Amino acid sequence: MQAIRILIVGFGNVGQGFFELLTRVKGRLGLNVVVTEIIDRRRGHIINPKPSILNEAIQGRLLGDKVEVDEIPRLISESNADIMCEFTDLVVRSKGEPAFTYLATALRSGKHVITTNKGPIAFHYDELMELSRRYGKLVRFKGTVMAGTPSFNILNLLPGAHVESFMGILNGTTNFILTKMYEEGLSFDDALRLAQQLGYAEADPSLDIDGLDAALKTIILSRVIGWKHELEGMEVRGIRGIDIRGYGDKVVKLIAYADKDKAYVKPIPLDKNDILAHVSRNLNALRLRLDTLGELTIIGPGAGRYETAQAVLTDLVDILNAMRH
Ligand code: HSE
Repeated sequence: MQAIRILIVGFGNVGQGFFELLTRVKGRLGLNVVVTEIIDRRRGHIINPKPSILNEAIQGRLLGDKVEVDEIPRLISESNADIMCEFTDLVVRSKGEPAFTYLATALRSGKHVITTNKGPIAFHYDELMELSRRYGKLVRFKGTVMAGTPSFNILNLLPGAHVESFMGILNGTTNFILTKMYEEGLSFDDALRLAQQLGYAEADPSLDIDGLDAALKTIILSRVIGWKHELEGMEVRGIRGIDIRGYGDKVVKLIAYADKDKAYVKPIPLDKNDILAHVSRNLNALRLRLDTLGELTIIGPGAGRYETAQAVLTDLVDILNAMRH
């Protein structure tokens, strides 16, 4: 049987992490897939990449035909891949463009899509679901919330459960910064630099610090649950300039909350006996309030190269299973 072809768009930290993980595990998992194309604005258009491409990709120089950003939709459309994996950077001011155009183009040209980019999902959820229905192709985006740690996908294991509200720590960078400030007395700037070195922060780290990244994740979770929260009108505050000494013996965390009527992201002081107060470093947490189970709390890594690659692998296996039926 012919291998399922994968096109990767965006070959930075997450793209490379996924390529590496896939190369490592596909034999063991019996996945009949092959990455046939990579499109990256710095590294070019690479056809049939070999595993050795990883060493060269890290340096960020051109490895294939030069690609202009406005050519990317045409290249996606012309690609004969079965699945497109989209890993470009989050851009909030353009409301998730150009990634939304890449995803829409892939669906229209008959490809299933996987993305780790929060922008197109948070800003264009309805349009993507409509395109998915119209073209009969799947849209998967597990990596947008809590990387490879189960988050909204855990609801697939809980048929009939109704989510009444959720509360969580959804940004790894700010949680890492706060932990380093509390535990090691690091300054805000030094802790941020470390988070950037470890690959947790967004290309534009103000998206993390000012709470927008967590807000988009709150919107994505809400949309999956069926609530229609939007960034406009949502209370969003981050941790820029925070003084952790001002909270007494409470532990301040950047908390995301939503129920069907409201959604917000802001620093909240937690009691030391609250389990969320002990979620440290780049860990994320999601506490779901369900009518059937009461409170269910999931804690796990929410950012990083391989942590996010795990989410893409989860989505890929999900799509491959669906393609078999
Ligand atoms: N910058 C994000 C974070 C990456 O720190 O959580 C994962 O979405």
